[in-house]
Amino acid sequence: MNILVLNGPNLNLLGEREPEIYGRGTLEDIYDMLRQEASKFKAELRFFQSNHEGDLIDKLHEERKWLDGIIMNPGALTHYSIALRDAVSAVGKPMVEVHLSDLTKREEFRRHTVFEGLENVRRIMGRGPQGYLSALRLLADADTSIAE
Ligand code: DQA
Repeated sequence: MNILVLNGPNLNLLGEREPEIYGRGTLEDIYDMLRQEASKFKAELRFFQSNHEGDLIDKLHEERKWLDGIIMNPGALTHYSIALRDAVSAVGKPMVEVHLSDLTKREEFRRHTVFEGLENVRRIMGRGPQGYLSALRLLADADTSIAE
């Protein structure tokens, strides 16, 4: 199974960015955890992080034939990027939307996610880096009871 792991704006700064909200782990730490877990499922992972909406969309287009599933933390694009939503809908493969923090317990403007209502999208939030692992397991069908 081929899984594309996408991270949006500001997630390159994990570890130093608002650690009280996002923790002290870096994005590379998350990649390492995922690589380790993926070996159990014989999953192949590709990673991409960008601070630019269009680059994330381009990556989804580029990898659409290769990938069987997507793990994406879209960062702030979660709350306003209709273009990214359209790309996820166009690609049509299963995606788990991951958020380190629990959006329901934060500012009002973070409560809405543009991916809501897409049939190929499930969501995991508020579990920190562990959420990425749960997303991988969910895609690998090892655990169907985690996401909403
Ligand atoms: C985030 C939550 C978003 O609201 C925020 O803009 C992020 C990170 C999370 O992982 O909790 O950049 O997606």
